[in-house]
Amino acid sequence: MAHGNPVSGGREPAALGPSDFRKIQSMAREVFGLELKCGKEALVSARLSRRVRDLGLYDIAGYLHAVRADRTGIELARLIDALTTNFTCFLREPQHFELLHRQILPELAEGGSFQVWSAGCSTGEEPYSILFQAIEAMGESRSRAMKLLATDISTRALEAAQAGVYSESRLKELPVGWPAKYFQRGTGQSSGLVRVRPEWRSRLSFERLNLMQDFRHVPLCSVIFCRNVMIYFDKPTQERLVQRFTERLEPGGWLLIGHSEGLMGIRHELNYVKPAVYRKPAAGR
Ligand SMILES: C[S@@+](CC[C@H](N)C(=O)[O-])C[C@H]1O[C@@H](n2cnc3c(N)ncnc32)[C@H](O)[C@@H]1O
Repeated sequence: MAHGNPVSGGREPAALGPSDFRKIQSMAREVFGLELKCGKEALVSARLSRRVRDLGLYDIAGYLHAVRADRTGIELARLIDALTTNFTCFLREPQHFELLHRQILPELAEGGSFQVWSAGCSTGEEPYSILFQAIEAMGESRSRAMKLLATDISTRALEAAQAGVYSESRLKELPVGWPAKYFQRGTGQSSGLVRVRPEWRSRLSFERLNLMQDFRHVPLCSVIFCRNVMIYFDKPTQERLVQRFTERLEPGGWLLIGHSEGLMGIRHELNYVKPAVYRKPAAGR
């Protein structure tokens, strides 16, 4: 990767100026569809200065040049990591998991195999919660009808999701009985950590995927979870993304978004079911 403008003589990276912030804003919009609002300068500066320093650079211009020159895409993924949050937890927004248990999975269980996609899965708590909920609702053997794809743009988050290792304290969000059923406890150096049992980890497929890029290779889905991801995008980007999700949904398929998000003010062809829950009209309607 190109490392222009190396730090010399211990010089500290310069703070972010207004024109640097505009450059980052326009790159974030162009590449990730990310809307970086004014007022975030200090946060962005703090997060990126560290990365600029680690790379041995001393200004943002050199850093952005390095990001564009890195053909592996790794630096780009690190940039989005610095600009967004990976915050997530097990059974986050429990209303969605109740709906999954009570209505969505029983309906889907009547048919053959079906696809669920966790788009923007972060460190994996969301797709594992979907899997555990499906096993509880359908039983282990029938839950195998569900194919579960978990994607994220962040390589770091995706690696954590694939490893399935969490601090034991994260499991307090789970119902009694789930921790022992779905996790192994670490011992020795790993004490205080838990790991999703291999037989459950192997039920998920993971893929690094930037939602701004083509995803027509994703199989048609019965349910798409895209929660707390679109919050970062501007309205036109959200609108295009929802249209592209709609194309990837089966007729009657569900789109679940974060409860602090909404499709207000964007054109779409989905039916509103309840807050943060939308459904593609069934065929012929
Ligand atoms: C706050 S987390 C949400 C995780 C989970 N869906 C939840 O609701 O708990 C947002 C995730 O979206 C991912 N993300 C942001 N922009 C993205 C993009 N353009 N393509 C794919 N993933 C993206 C981030 O890497 C991050 O892991």
